[in-house]
Amino acid sequence: MTVKIIGTGRGIPENIVSNDDLAKIMDTSDEWIHSRTGIHNRHMVKEEGTTALAVTASKNAMKKAGISPEEIDLIIVGTVSGDMCFPSTACQVQAAIGAVNAVAYDISAGCSGFIFALNAAYGYIMSGMAKCALIIGAETLSKMVDWNDRSTCVLFGDGAGAAIVKGVESEGGVLAVAQHSDGAGGDVLTGKNRNVRNPLIDNKEEVFYLEMEGQEVFKFAVKMVPKCIQEVLEKAGKTLDEVDLFVLHQANCRIIESVSKRLKVPMEKFPMNIENFGNTSAASIPILLDELNESGKIKEGDTIVFSGFGAGLTWGATLVQW
Ligand code: ACO
Repeated sequence: MTVKIIGTGRGIPENIVSNDDLAKIMDTSDEWIHSRTGIHNRHMVKEEGTTALAVTASKNAMKKAGISPEEIDLIIVGTVSGDMCFPSTACQVQAAIGAVNAVAYDISAGCSGFIFALNAAYGYIMSGMAKCALIIGAETLSKMVDWNDRSTCVLFGDGAGAAIVKGVESEGGVLAVAQHSDGAGGDVLTGKNRNVRNPLIDNKEEVFYLEMEGQEVFKFAVKMVPKCIQEVLEKAGKTLDEVDLFVLHQANCRIIESVSKRLKVPMEKFPMNIENFGNTSAASIPILLDELNESGKIKEGDTIVFSGFGAGLTWGATLVQW
């Protein structure tokens, strides 16, 4: 048996905010943002939340996979920006789509959330604990950034992507997985919760925002992502030359260009959509995957490396034969 991605979908907010729109409300420019990140536009929610985007992505993925909600026995959502602390986004999605036979929970792994969800689903299915999983990356980071901090708020966008992952009797599918965490390095990218407040301590109510040491995150990503890609290839006995596509977390075009250079693999093998979406954290890989799948850029038999990296610190990769 192997584990295959049999359907993908995305849920994208209608509203588009361009760099020029941002330049009207803060001291920035299209030139500054685009030259450093590759971003021109990002989508942003107005009315809907993370769950609504996740539900749209899930329905699209189920439709493309041709499965009913009752067939899903596992739902995992990678998110750091759910609408509620609890119930989880995954449980809310379960209710909305009627996946009555599923166990559902969220994973907090920052921008690695979708890869960790995919790898977890792979483990569940291979061990016989599940047969058919719905995995999702969904974020509304626009509510978590400090709109007075131009060095972070211009980088992010909202969106969701989903995939149906099923155990099938066939060749290919997931060939190998790799995943890592380094909690000691986690201070460079944080989103704090509320202060402790209770009858013993009267801390004042404060709102915290996403905080990032951009250059440290950059160094972490360009060091660990190539290593992780090599690791997953070694596990499967494959070489870089055999890979058709490298679908990486869309944090920043310069990170992706550095990874391509370090691996000595041409940029043509690194598809990007950051120009139109910004950094959508855990949602970026499944959104890009759905676009590639829909436009026919992925063909049966293609060898694809997925790799995510982000808060935690966390990073991981999945090698798939489509
Ligand atoms: N518009 C105009 N000027 C700006 C802006 C802005 N939006 N933001 C910062 N600046 C200014 C700063 O004030 C600073 O000015 P100064 O030199 O007069 O003090 C100057 O630009 C340089 O600021 P830096 O923060 O040093 O900018 P840097 O060149 O490092 O670029 C960036 C920032 C793009 C974030 C870079 O560090 C980077 O690529 N980091 C990678 C991490 C990343 O992309 N993270 C995404 C999220 S994390 C994840 O997904 C895993």
